[in-house]
Amino acid sequence: MLTRKPRIVIIGAGMAGLTAANKLYKSAGSKDLFELCVVEGGTRIGGRINTSEFGGDRIEIGATWIHGIKGSPVHKIAREINSLESEQPWECMDSFSDEPVTIAEGGYELNPSLVEPISSLFKKLMDFSQGKLIEDETVSSLKLAAKSCGPGNISIGSFLRKGLDAYWSSMKHQRDQVKMLGNWSGKALEEAIFAMHENTQRTYTSAGDLHTLDYNAESEYILFPGEEITIAKGYLSIIESLASVLPAGLVQLGRKVTKIEWQPDGHLPIAAVPNGHGTMPVKLHFLDGSTMSADHVILTVSLGVLKHGIREDAGMFDPPLPGFKTEAISKLGYGVVNKLFLQLSPTNGQEFKSSIKFPNLQMVFHQSDHTLSRHPDIPWWMRRTASLSPIYSKSSVLLSWFAGEEALELESLNDDDILNGVSTTISNLFSKSTHYHVASDSNQPCNGDANSAENSNLRCIKFAKILKSKWGNDPLFLGSYSYVAVGSSGDDMDTMAEPLPKISNSSAPKSPSPPLQILFAGEATHRTHYSTTHGAYFSGLREANRLLQHYGCSDI
Ligand SMILES: Cc1cc2nc3c(=O)[nH]c(=O)nc-3n(C[C@H](O)[C@H](O)[C@H](O)COP(=O)(O)OP(=O)(O)OC[C@H]3O[C@@H](n4cnc5c(N)ncnc54)[C@H](O)[C@@H]3O)c2cc1C
Ligand SMILES: *[C@@H]1O[C@H](CO)[C@@H](O)[C@H](O)[C@H]1NC(C)=O
Ligand SMILES: *[C@@H]1O[C@H](CO)[C@@H](O)[C@H](O)[C@H]1NC(C)=O
Ligand SMILES: *[C@@H]1O[C@H](CO)[C@@H](O)[C@H](O)[C@H]1NC(C)=O
Ligand SMILES: *[C@@H]1O[C@H](CO)[C@@H](O)[C@H](O)[C@H]1NC(C)=O
Repeated sequence: MLTRKPRIVIIGAGMAGLTAANKLYKSAGSKDLFELCVVEGGTRIGGRINTSEFGGDRIEIGATWIHGIKGSPVHKIAREINSLESEQPWECMDSFSDEPVTIAEGGYELNPSLVEPISSLFKKLMDFSQGKLIEDETVSSLKLAAKSCGPGNISIGSFLRKGLDAYWSSMKHQRDQVKMLGNWSGKALEEAIFAMHENTQRTYTSAGDLHTLDYNAESEYILFPGEEITIAKGYLSIIESLASVLPAGLVQLGRKVTKIEWQPDGHLPIAAVPNGHGTMPVKLHFLDGSTMSADHVILTVSLGVLKHGIREDAGMFDPPLPGFKTEAISKLGYGVVNKLFLQLSPTNGQEFKSSIKFPNLQMVFHQSDHTLSRHPDIPWWMRRTASLSPIYSKSSVLLSWFAGEEALELESLNDDDILNGVSTTISNLFSKSTHYHVASDSNQPCNGDANSAENSNLRCIKFAKILKSKWGNDPLFLGSYSYVAVGSSGDDMDTMAEPLPKISNSSAPKSPSPPLQILFAGEATHRTHYSTTHGAYFSGLREANRLLQHYGCSDI
């Protein structure tokens, strides 16, 4: 045992890092057991939690929802610090409880009775894949759908499509012959409604293509029961609460780690430490050229940062991580999800808080590339976006979620192109509307019909400005959250969580290195709660407890 205090360095001041720091400091800090610090590459704390403001409203650029309040540690903190109420309006998404308005390309508002059968089919398929359905007739036919995907490596994408095919073949009449609305055949419409739900699923999971999302892992994922809610005072209030117990200076901002030197078993002989001040096994290199030694590092960077870091040209680890680690890092999925906020202008003296509020809009687009019915001006990056809704009932701020390639495209487009693309799209969707008129490009005023006396009930829609997240290209994140990709499994998440050097079972270790040099936390290390803030929270707690246990602190 060293006579000096062991030094623990936590890399990353997001949910996982600050939870670990909070736990270690509260359990041991007061007893002065460790030397503790958090190094964060960015200029703020919170990581993928980033509460901000837009158009006078509080918004979330990253994490938004508490996914089920019962049993959620995030909800518990939010309640304790009274974060669930606010004077200021926030992104509470109460419009989600309104009946959605579903409009198909060409301007056809769909009767709910047309949408419902496909929505309920989709829900059944997802519930089944998540193991939530009890055995009945539907389940038997779904089992067939799952089986017909072939053995092994089934994706959610292929399972869903088999399910849709099975639904169609159970139908008596030939639906694709029926022209229902303009150029929409019944079958094309059903497929497009189905695709809209798939697109929502893409944003939930961050799998840009659902054919890369593993089917078997879906039933392992645990969602807390109870409501899903957002945090009135902002998600950042949770982060600030965790950080508030830490003394000033413990969290160092602007400290980007470029290399982690460590000592695997048998790699380097460890110098004897007779005076208790010997070398520590881990050495961190920072962007500014400075270094820092540590006995233990808790690494909380995103899976995207790890995927990049294990590349030869990045060389984040010296020596490189062992094969079992790099394999898990490579195989697991990590995608891009972005949020786009658009502020409506109060045009022509019309207050945005007009009697005609913007609906909870669900968008249905033609799927086939070949159809002549596709409106050529609707950009491809809008076609796989499922909804556009006010962030609360009467807000002038609207929100859309983007996943995959579309999310990346959003990052590279300039604001005007985005404004024009969204305007053209909803102008098409509202082209037959008796409630809304859309200024089809951002430079055009709302005029014409909208102002004439007989149409005074038309609400003019025009956007003033936008705000978008850019999680994909930000070098501190390189994406949004992780998922179990086809070819990987929950075991890989467990492997992600294993500390290094690996605890070896060999009876005669050559030159055993100090244990627990690199510990791994972060959402991608939690087998059943990955992709969430509470998953990140649990992982931080897990690694803090691992160290506390190692040093015989039983306060857990
Ligand atoms: C758009 C979006 C929406 C989301 N919605 C939800 C939601 O509704 N509900 C939910 O529960 N979750 C949601 N999430 C996921 C949630 O935000 C994350 O799971 C969680 O915040 C991850 O926390 P973490 O501590 O694991 O990682 P991070 O928050 O990524 O923390 C890691 C930290 O490490 C820092 N870092 C990176 N590289 C280095 C380096 N080289 N040196 C030093 N520091 C470095 C980063 O700056 C970051 O602060 C969403 C995420 C996104 C992007
Ligand atoms: C966090 O939000 C601020 C706006 O409040 C923005 O400037 C910054 O780029 C955001 N960070 C990330 C990583 O999205
Ligand atoms: C599953 O995927 C992995 C990796 O992509 C591959 O090696 C394996 O052969 C696949 N198994 C099946 C049954 O398709
Ligand atoms: C249907 O398609 C034809 C071309 O085949 C096109 O001219 C027409 O505008 C379309 N109608 C609608 C309602 O979109
Ligand atoms: C290590 O050895 C113990 C008994 O010697 C055994 O119970 C355990 O399963 C082994 N662990 C691994 C990972 O092989």
